[in-house]
Amino acid sequence: MERQELIRSAFEIQKRAYAPYSHFQVGAALLCEDGEIFQGCNIENASYGATNCAERTAFFKAVSEGKRKFKAIVIVGKHKDSQVFEYCAPCGICRQVMAEFCDPRTFEIILPRSEEDYQVYKLEELLPLSFTGENLE
Ligand code: THU
Repeated sequence: MERQELIRSAFEIQKRAYAPYSHFQVGAALLCEDGEIFQGCNIENASYGATNCAERTAFFKAVSEGKRKFKAIVIVGKHKDSQVFEYCAPCGICRQVMAEFCDPRTFEIILPRSEEDYQVYKLEELLPLSFTGENLE
């Protein structure tokens, strides 16, 4: 799997964002360990709290299809009227969902501004000292 393919996949699904309130349109492409890709966009709601982020849409699609192991996620987002993408970091709730399913030392969070210009983080960098199932044992 090429990073470029995953990045293209995120830009593609970003166009499907349902964001009539914030007009901030986000796309995510989640790479499973078996190589399959799940795409997600943000889905807003008139009751703002019912909004689902692009990353969680991708995770919930994948998990509901039986996937449990993941390698990387690409996230892209911008206001609909903006011509350029800036690095779009995941929100805290989405980081927590990643922590549920991903190895913090290896899972990659890839934040592109374009196909060539992107930052790469490990989950442990973006969510140190996370609360996980191990805390409940
Ligand atoms: N949003 C995402 O989908 N992912 C992020 O990483 C940041 C925020 C969405 C939620 C909401 O629909 C809009 O962007 C503005 O917060």
